[in-house]
Amino acid sequence: MRDQGARAAVEINAVTKRFGNVVAVADFSLEVQRGELVTLLGPSGCGKTTTLRIVAGFERPDSGRVFIFGREVTHVPPERRDVGMVFQNYALFPHMTVFQNVAFPMRIAKRPKREIREKVREYLALVRLEGLEGRYVTQLSGGQKQRVALARALARSPKILLLDEPLSALDAKIRIQLREEIRQLQQKLGITTLYVTHDQEEALSISDRIVVMNEGNIEQVGAPTEIYFRPRTLFVASFVGTMNFFTGTAVTTGGEIKLKWHEVLLSLPPGANVKPGEAISVGVRPERLSLAFDGVTIPPGHNVIPGDVSFVTFLGSIMRVEVMLADGTKVKIDLPTKEGVNPQRGQKVYLCFSPDDAVVLKT
Ligand SMILES: Nc1ncnc2c1ncn2[C@@H]1O[C@H](COP(=O)(O)OP(=O)(O)OP(=O)(O)O)[C@@H](O)[C@H]1O
Ligand SMILES: [Mg+2]
Repeated sequence: MRDQGARAAVEINAVTKRFGNVVAVADFSLEVQRGELVTLLGPSGCGKTTTLRIVAGFERPDSGRVFIFGREVTHVPPERRDVGMVFQNYALFPHMTVFQNVAFPMRIAKRPKREIREKVREYLALVRLEGLEGRYVTQLSGGQKQRVALARALARSPKILLLDEPLSALDAKIRIQLREEIRQLQQKLGITTLYVTHDQEEALSISDRIVVMNEGNIEQVGAPTEIYFRPRTLFVASFVGTMNFFTGTAVTTGGEIKLKWHEVLLSLPPGANVKPGEAISVGVRPERLSLAFDGVTIPPGHNVIPGDVSFVTFLGSIMRVEVMLADGTKVKIDLPTKEGVNPQRGQKVYLCFSPDDAVVLKT
């Protein structure tokens, strides 16, 4: 008998799922702790929905096992797994009212009428839809529909909440508002949640941890700040946020290992595990780069690369500057804005960054 108290809320253990020749999910293992919100993030077709459907029970893995609070559910049907799922594009019943939609799973589970009424009211209030019980789903906005779907998934008090791209059908402003609401609600209820998105900003903003997926495999698992500041693979570095890359060969000069990028030698962050002759990329975020206009104000120890300003966008709080380097590479730099400081197109500048702010990635 497993010790249920000590186990993770969700445990996916070496799960593989194939569709014909396609390996949708490849030897996937993950533990989600109680109360955690973990996001599966990755490009279209990388296996996010399939993984979620395996946890929900709509899909059987070819191999591997799934546990929910220590109980093996690999072969348990969805309705007996105690999970609530919000599907992409709502999947609401159009011929039913808001009330009937939210009540539906509880009716199927044959809950007493009174309990259903109370739960529907409680959860509609939680998603701020009081007073809309009698409306038909077709009479709601996209954001309201998504709230109904959320209330429906939560009303049965599931142990696990599964959300598959719940915001993808909404426009940008409502998406941001609703993602904050979902996160606040999730924290308030303390419900363990597995969330799927291909939107990296959404993942960074709401998750306790992010699982970056690529072609059915896990590239990296970590807190949003870890994924952002310490990507471990080129894929993660380029998929999450904006990253500038300098790619070349590692060389040893004066007992120190550096990156030879064209004729420039770039210092690597301390502890970089690189051997001479290795092909590597040094990645630097736009906000970790600065510009010097005169060569004098470059901080000691910084890497310096000359270039020409090719494009400037003023965005209020930041200035996004594009600098073209001698080899044609375009580098993006985000500068905090200051009145009177206006880099001009064509201006000669020096890009600078501290080696501490760079990540080294094997190519
Ligand atoms: N029922 C199915 N039959 C055949 N192939 C499938 C089936 N479901 C998924 N696939 C394939 O498995 C792979 C993973 O699909 P999945 O839907 O899990 O991706 P996803 O990461 O959710 O993508 P998206 O961001 O586009 O929703 C894809 O190559 C997809 O074509
Ligand atoms: Mg999907």
